[in-house]
Amino acid sequence: MSRVYAGRKTIIRLNKFLAQAGLASRREADRMIQEGRVRLNGRVVTELGVKVDEHKDRVEVDNRPVRLPSEHVCLLLNKPAGYIVTLDDPQQRKTVMELLPRLPVRVFPVGRLDAETEGLLLFTNDGELAHRLTHPRYEIKKLYEVKVKGFVEDKELEKLEKGIFIDGRKTAPARARIIYRNREKSLLSLEIHEGRKHEVRKMLYALGFEVRKLRRVSFAGLTIKGLRRGFWRRLRPEEVDRLKKMTGLAD
Ligand code: URA
Repeated sequence: MSRVYAGRKTIIRLNKFLAQAGLASRREADRMIQEGRVRLNGRVVTELGVKVDEHKDRVEVDNRPVRLPSEHVCLLLNKPAGYIVTLDDPQQRKTVMELLPRLPVRVFPVGRLDAETEGLLLFTNDGELAHRLTHPRYEIKKLYEVKVKGFVEDKELEKLEKGIFIDGRKTAPARARIIYRNREKSLLSLEIHEGRKHEVRKMLYALGFEVRKLRRVSFAGLTIKGLRRGFWRRLRPEEVDRLKKMTGLAD
């Protein structure tokens, strides 16, 4: 397993510590601090900018101890349809967590895919990286293959590219291409960089198309090529470095 943090600094800001522990983004961590929920060596701290020694200091949130994971893990899963993206489902439906190996750390999904969507889903225990990969500011690219019922015209591709109103707001510019099309069905590739809920399905629905199949083939430059449906693999250290560079986290 990759020791991504080998040699990392030990004195860091408290909000960064909480983010790296996977509790919150840095901004949310600041809010937790201001709300008086965070203790440092037994004393509540409410001022921002306090630094901690991650090896020596004792940090608690809501009276529970917080420790940094001894290692950061990133996994990539080729999600099959029919699995819900959640850590735990009270209704006992199948979840993506069942497809992962047993790990010494607790990972969580980076963003979401609908239960019926297949394809690339990333998991990590690095809260800050996950936050940045899903934050609109970083415009992380997602590439989908979308099968719809009916023939998609060129003018409809243009509309997908220029932006379509869904939920009262226009979608950001996208790239849309035909992979094949006939009277019964069309297969498109659609690259977007927003991550709005059900975005692709809603974009096609707004043009009058019913999505038959949706698959994410690439996320942040990573692809599911060579990975069978239902299988996972660990990211290589150079892939993790690239994600960090992309999101301004590389040293
Ligand atoms: N857009 C959708 O509509 N669904 C997904 O699962 C992902 C993107």
